[in-house]
Parts: sequence; structure tokens; C-alpha cells
Amino acid sequence: MPTHLILLAAGEGTRMQSARPKVLHEVGAAPLFAHALASAAALDGQRVIVVGHLGDEVRAAALAHDPDLAIVDQPEQLGTAHAVTMAAPVLQGQGGDTLMLFGDTPFIRPETIADLQVKRADGADIIFLGFMARDPGRYGRMVTEGDNLNAIVEWKDADEATREIALCNSGVVLAETETLLRLAGSVGMDNKAGEQYLTDIAALGRAEGLSVKVVICEEEETLGINTRADLARAEAVFQARARSLAMERGVTLEAPDTVIFSHDTMIGRDAVVEPNVVFAPGVTVETGARIRAFSHLEGCHVGASAIVGPYARLRPGAELSADVRIGNFVEVKNAEIAEGAKVNHLSYIGDASIGARSNIGAGTITCNYDGVFKHRTEIGQGVFVGSNTMLVAPVSLGDGAMTGSGSVITQNVPGGDLAIARAKQANKTGLGARLMAKLRAAKAQKG
Ligand code: UD1
Ligand code: CA
Repeated sequence: MPTHLILLAAGEGTRMQSARPKVLHEVGAAPLFAHALASAAALDGQRVIVVGHLGDEVRAAALAHDPDLAIVDQPEQLGTAHAVTMAAPVLQGQGGDTLMLFGDTPFIRPETIADLQVKRADGADIIFLGFMARDPGRYGRMVTEGDNLNAIVEWKDADEATREIALCNSGVVLAETETLLRLAGSVGMDNKAGEQYLTDIAALGRAEGLSVKVVICEEEETLGINTRADLARAEAVFQARARSLAMERGVTLEAPDTVIFSHDTMIGRDAVVEPNVVFAPGVTVETGARIRAFSHLEGCHVGASAIVGPYARLRPGAELSADVRIGNFVEVKNAEIAEGAKVNHLSYIGDASIGARSNIGAGTITCNYDGVFKHRTEIGQGVFVGSNTMLVAPVSLGDGAMTGSGSVITQNVPGGDLAIARAKQANKTGLGARLMAKLRAAKAQKG
């Protein structure tokens, strides 16, 4: 039986003080709405529907994330039940179940969604996700009787006794699709907010004799984001989860609190990450590699047992094979570096390939950009590039070639050759001493 997903992703962002819609703000370098979609990724859903007063930016971002999403505009925000009914044309006749998540609530765990599905399989018609709130504040309160959920009362509409209830509604609900649409469509607006509350379907369902239940999760999972401070808290929660997960999977983090992960960072077993490393999106690190302190990695692949840093920068398209060494103050972009090659100090390698076991001397630069076009540098196997070599691309160095340090290489170097491209040295006998004496005399005369 398919489980469809409705994601409420309204485009508002006023309390964020931002020109950017709230659900496009990022945690772990992915927009909030993408986290909500990811937590439901395991559903065998046939339809994923993003509903809300969306605006072009959210619409474009959602489609860029997944072109198969159905996007439904809710022109007027008349309430959460109204939002659900907007999805009816897409869901009608699709059967199965439908889960509803909020786009600004990124931390619902896939395991929690599985718990909702278990309750559903046990025969419940509608299941709301609740949590025991440390400070129940203005959340909707869940009125239970035994394990039945009789009603959810919104804070605005609750009397004193109901406000004492600590079991609060997260907003997440799973129900049989037809039941959800039918009940959402029959919700009224007779409440303090004058809105169509989706939460009313709990009492409506009970009145019909349906089985309405609660699954309880940790409060942390229900953390919604309304302000920049909430966003910072969410980032902290995300990073804490990512660090624990990495360690559970066998990665050594020498100072976990100082390592920054992205939503898609993949690190292999027995890799070691030293303090103050940032993983921007798109990084994979293979087993046994070591990422040394203060390195920044993005869109790159680090092979098994490679060593990167300290103070290295790997930019998109950096492909390091096994046992590669990238040392301090080295920047690599769009370059394949083959097994055992070394770029240990103060270099820029961009739009290049470096063959196995080649050694790139300190201060080497691939001059890849002529101001308009980018050009490639091809370096073969076992090449020795002398310190401070400028490789003016397009240029190639054959297997086993060498360059003299300080060379500006503008022509291809055949394999096995030594290229020296710098002014010839001239020693002027005694001139150093004479010049120095003259300068000192001039200084003495000045006083
Ligand atoms: C809602 C729940 C409340 C719960 C709380 C948890 C309802 C009626 N109340 O309250 O029980 O404790 O979430 O955070 O559901 N939205 C739309 N279209 C609308 C109205 C809302 O897309 O017409 C979206 C909002 O952008 C938001 C979400 O639905 O992402 C929740 O709506 P909001 O008005 O914030 O409800 P709460 O008062 O927080
Ligand atoms: Ca809210």
C-alpha cells in the first residue's frame, strides 16, 4: 500500500527577518524542506505533494530538488485542514495512506515515521505524532482517553484545565488517504483563529467511531524553525546527530564539536578527522583517510588512506585516489590526483590530472585561467615538478619528466625530459661585498 506525502511548505519568513522564504533557509547546507523530504524518503510513496502559499522561489527550489514533486498552491492560508484539501485533486483515487509533514520541521526521524506506520498497520485510522513538552506554550494539546486520542485543542481555544496537558501535537499526522481528505474537507472555522484546523479531524474521526491514536516522539524531533535563533539551535541539533552518526560508523573525530558536517557527508570506517574541519556538501572520504586540522572540503572525493591538510582546501571536482598526500596551504579544484601522488606544500592545482606517484614541489601553480577560458594541465606518472614551477595551461608533462624549480613551463615536456625555463644565473665576482659596503657608507653619512 503506497504512502503519499503532503509537505506544508508555506513561503513566509517574516520572523526570520529575511528576504528568503523560511523553508529555504539551510541546516547542514540543505534547505529545511529537503530535510523534511529526507525524513520521509523511505516511504514507498507514489505522490509527494508540496502545498502552500509558495511563491516562485520555493516552487523553483522544490522542483530543482526533485522534478517529480507535485506542487500545489494554496492561494489563501485558511488553515492546515484547508491546505490538506488543496492536495485533494492530486491524491483523489490514489488510495493508500498519506503522511503530512511541515517544511519548517526538519528533524522528524525516519524511525518515528515507521512507528506511525506500525500503528496504522495495527488498525488505527488516524495517528497524530505527539510529544511531552518541557514548556507546552502555545502548542495544540492532545486530549486522550486510554490510548485513544479524543481531540486536539489548539492553545487559543483551550480552557485552563486543557492547557495543563503536557502532551502536545507536533502537527505530523498519518491517515488513510480518503479519510484524511474527507475529514479535512468537513472541518469548520468556528474557533478563535477563524481557521480550518487539521487537528479537528481527531474529534471528527472519534465521533464517527474511527480509531484515532497518538505516537509519542522526543521533543527535539519536533523542533520547528521560526527565528534565526531557532535556525542556529537546529544547526546544533543537526551537527550533534551527524557527529554521533559518524562515530557510530567507525570514524574517529578527535574534537567532535569542532567538525562541521553537511547533510550528505560520507566518511568511511577508520578515517580520522582532526579538529576544525569543515565538510561542505558533496564530500566522500574513504576508509582510513586522515583529514588534518583546519581543512575545508567541498564536492570532492578522498581515497582510502589519503592524508589531507592541515590547512588544505579541496574544492568541487577534486578526486584523490588512495594514498594521496595533500599538505598545508594546498588548493585543489577539478583535478584527479592518482594513487600515491603528493602535493605537500603551498600549491594550486586546478583543471588538472596528476599521475600516480608524482611529486609536486612547493609553490607549484597550474595557471589554468587566461582571463576568459580555463585550460587543463596533464601530468603523467612519476613526474617530479620542482618547487615554484608555473605550469601555464594547456600543457602536459610526460611520465617521468622533471622541471627545474622556478620554471615557467609553457610548452609540453616529453616523458623523461628535464625542463628548465628560467633566466640563467650569473655570479658577479666580489660585487656582493662591494655593494654592501657602499650602502652602509651611505647610511652612515645620513646619520
Ligand atoms: C500547528 C498545530 C498545533 C501544533 C503545532 C506544532 C494546527 C491547527 N495546529 O499549530 O496543534 O501544536 O502546529 O508546531 O494544525 N500552513 C499552511 N497553510 C495554512 C495554515 C498553515 O501551509 O493555511 C502551514 C504553516 O505555514 C506552518 C504549518 O502549516 O508550516 C502549521 O501552521 P501554523 O499556523 O504555524 O500552526 P500552529 O499554530 O503552529
Ligand atoms: Ca507553527
